[in-house]
Amino acid sequence: MKKVLVVGGGGRCHAIVKALRRSPQVEKVFCAPGNAGIAEDADCVAIGVEDVDNIVKFVGENGIDLTVVGPEAALAAGVVDALEAAGHKAFGPTKAAARIESSKEFAKQIMAKYNVPTAAYEAFDDFNAAWEYVKNRPLPAVIKYDGLAAGKGVVVALSYEEAEAALRDMLLDSTFGKGRVVVEDFLDGPEFSFMCVVSGHKVYPLAMAQDHKRAYDGDKGPNTGGMGAYSPVPFVTDEIRAIALEQIIQRTADGMVAEGVPFKGVLYGGLILTADGPKVIEFNARFGDPETEVVLPRLESDIYDLFEAAVDGRDCETRWSDDAYLGVVLASEGYPGSYSKGAEIKGLENVNAEVYHMGTKRDGDRLLTAGGRVLMVVGKGKTITEANEAAKAEIAKIDCPTLFHRTDIGKASL
Ligand code: AMP
Ligand code: GLY
Repeated sequence: MKKVLVVGGGGRCHAIVKALRRSPQVEKVFCAPGNAGIAEDADCVAIGVEDVDNIVKFVGENGIDLTVVGPEAALAAGVVDALEAAGHKAFGPTKAAARIESSKEFAKQIMAKYNVPTAAYEAFDDFNAAWEYVKNRPLPAVIKYDGLAAGKGVVVALSYEEAEAALRDMLLDSTFGKGRVVVEDFLDGPEFSFMCVVSGHKVYPLAMAQDHKRAYDGDKGPNTGGMGAYSPVPFVTDEIRAIALEQIIQRTADGMVAEGVPFKGVLYGGLILTADGPKVIEFNARFGDPETEVVLPRLESDIYDLFEAAVDGRDCETRWSDDAYLGVVLASEGYPGSYSKGAEIKGLENVNAEVYHMGTKRDGDRLLTAGGRVLMVVGKGKTITEANEAAKAEIAKIDCPTLFHRTDIGKASL
């Protein structure tokens, strides 16, 4: 029987923990640092996701067979590299391979070199050069801060004024810390998330999901980490999926091997279905949040076996249920900007659906909000419409004055 450590503390890690609990070969699941909800499903240990030394120490001292690394910050801190150097098994990319997410420009270079469909782009660190380029391109202009910005470092500028302000913000005012941007052409179409487990040249595709990045109904408001998701995604036909698998995920996996940075972990394609077929909006080097919470419940086969297969580079078959899952994020008012924490959440005991904790904290018997995204309620059904109805009915039972949520998750597929 196996012992597993999951590094992370959000809804994605809660879903990974729950999936691991279903594995017949997993005896114990630890989570560092976890959260109030994860504590009901795993043994939480008070180690931060970037605390590399203590993670390696914990794994050694507790006989952990496999560590699954969730958040981008942990990957960028080199958790996987340090575990491997100490002779431990880790599911997740090395810091070098995780650059496919942490550097937009690196991702763009890989795509250009290996013929992976994506928007045309230029990278800049000089404001005047960037502004000169942008004002001679059609609108909207897509301006991306080149670094980790938790899904918030992207501006789709509809006017030149807005584009100039974004460039100023990212290149002159250093809001994010370092000044380099990628400017790319605007792509039009519905977006979807194609997560695949990758191990060198091997690709093990997961079920499709669609995220909802904007804060408010009707895709209005600022970009967030994601306000809700569902799976499956009917508009992604088998044919489109096959193209995405071949032209996007497989070419990228092969390209990473050719570049000497083989990828192991979840390669997350943030894709858009344009009139010319699927193209890449972004890559992530990890499970998506909130997509994971609607995808992993559909996995019928053993997730430990899949993780281990990727680490060992062997084949693995996965099996998926036909059920639909639709999840809605309950977020703190003000998110993705500033928000307050510490409001009491009541009524969860009456909820008859999976609830993933994204940012919660216990205070004695009380459950409190402790983050921007707080909870995700996932409805299940035979169809997306049924799953949506289930999610809505259960959300109505949750009582917290500072939480808001979108009411149109899954609209494109209802
Ligand atoms: P990213 O962080 O790169 O995923 O971008 C966040 C969001 O900005 C995406 O989910 C899209 O909605 C939007 N976006 C990014 N790049 C483009 C693009 N080239 N064309 C259209 N929309 C984009
Ligand atoms: N939901 C998008 C992400 O995980 O980046």
